[in-house]
Amino acid sequence: MNTGLFITLEGPEGAGKTTQTARLASWLGDLGLAVHTTREPGAGKIGAQIRQVLLNPENVGLNPLTEALLMAADRAQHVADELRPALLQGQMVICDRYIDSHIAYQGYGRGLSVAWLQDLNKTATDGLLPDLTLLLQLPVQVGLARTKKRGDADRMEQEQLAFHQRLHDGYAAIAAAEPRRVRVINAAADEDAVQEQIRAAVGDVLLRKGLVAQDALR
Ligand code: TMP
Repeated sequence: MNTGLFITLEGPEGAGKTTQTARLASWLGDLGLAVHTTREPGAGKIGAQIRQVLLNPENVGLNPLTEALLMAADRAQHVADELRPALLQGQMVICDRYIDSHIAYQGYGRGLSVAWLQDLNKTATDGLLPDLTLLLQLPVQVGLARTKKRGDADRMEQEQLAFHQRLHDGYAAIAAAEPRRVRVINAAADEDAVQEQIRAAVGDVLLRKGLVAQDALR
């Protein structure tokens, strides 16, 4: 049985997941909780090698099925080596991207069967689902403009506008189908306001699970 809490951050390119993950981790640490931050794809030594194949802009020939299987392979290794052990130790695990990226990118983006991807994920994760998913939503054009500013687009960021629009729609469909797990965060707001929405959502779950007292959140 997991004793920790499993939180994932999801959303399109440029939604600010990395910054918000770091700030959330620091807040949870200040509450006296043990925190473990990680990401997909590419956590750990084996994951880093898989990530290199997946995101290298030179790999133009990578077909969608290979891409989906490599993402799942990365996830299987991550769950076994890092996520499950950290949760069993009672840690607050924050993961930048997880199964919903698979459904949005490989399902809605690439057009692979969502039902098949769901099955694949069940096997790859051995059924490990997040307690809470924070979906950082923002208009497609805003996200793309932010990534352009960063320069050096990876293989996914180089995709066309229509692909990113499908991702957006995919994420919206996931949130609509699973409102208990997925909380939609307005990521077009400024950084502090986004963090405030995130803390409110995480605070609710911490209280519900009895991991902090109400007083601690004031
Ligand atoms: P990022 O870590 O910089 O967000 O880059 C990871 C990229 O990989 C991003 O474009 C989303 C993509 N991705 C998938 O396509 N499927 C997945 O299952 C995951 C975890 C990520």
